[in-house]
Amino acid sequence: MTEVIIVRDEDEAGGIYARCVGDLIARRPDCVLGLATGSSPLAAYRALAALVRERGLDVSRVRGFALDEYVGLDPGHPQSYRSTIDRTVVRPLGLDPALVHVPDGDPAGVRDAGRRYDEAIGRAGGVDVQILGVGTDGHIGFNEPGSSLGSGTRLKTLAERTRIDNARFFDGDVDRVPTHCITQGIGTILRARHLVLLAFGEGKAEAVAESVEGGVSSFCPASALQLHPHATVIVDEAAASRLRNRDYYRYAYAHKPAWQGI
Ligand code: F6R
Repeated sequence: MTEVIIVRDEDEAGGIYARCVGDLIARRPDCVLGLATGSSPLAAYRALAALVRERGLDVSRVRGFALDEYVGLDPGHPQSYRSTIDRTVVRPLGLDPALVHVPDGDPAGVRDAGRRYDEAIGRAGGVDVQILGVGTDGHIGFNEPGSSLGSGTRLKTLAERTRIDNARFFDGDVDRVPTHCITQGIGTILRARHLVLLAFGEGKAEAVAESVEGGVSSFCPASALQLHPHATVIVDEAAASRLRNRDYYRYAYAHKPAWQGI
């Protein structure tokens, strides 16, 4: 079963993620983190950066792979996912930038970039913990509805809904949001050893309910989490509001032995 944890707010969710990843770094200083951009993981990255400082963790060998990148946006553009990951993860945590990878969104190499990226993840030994957000249409990474559940990293066309949702990062101008991206596939994401999906706010309630309690379908890419042996979904009350089984999720988490972690 996908574990669902209902929290008060993003900070509580961030603390849960930070403890999980902090323990992983302490156990395995060269672990591999799967990284997402967008709003959902920001509190989690802040909590992890604080915990790294507090516990004096050595992060010099931690490796990272981002989920996706816009195609045709200069890597130095403030909204490129390369820049976003540098700003929100690499610098606050003090990671070695050479060990943190983002798919190559250069249109010239895009035909081959996906295969090369999946090979690089494979050579690193796979992702240990993959953090995920979910789109209002149920996308994970930039796998829009209809994406193959077995897909590898590849070029995708962004849905109009996603471009509208992301216009807020481009001064509200949807025409400036690129039309294409390169994204880890659903098959790639499912190979990570632990998936942690974060979702907050009423706007995500339907996508969360579809993903966790709906049928597994390429029309809701996040429903692929149901196929994963170790998936954790952390949501606030608003995002949990359409889950039919939410009393059970609360009960199960309240009675979970602390040693199990997430
Ligand atoms: C970002 C990504 C996307 C976002 C999703 C939710 O790398 O892959 O799937 O996680 O669009 O975005 P936010 O968190 O901004 O609501």
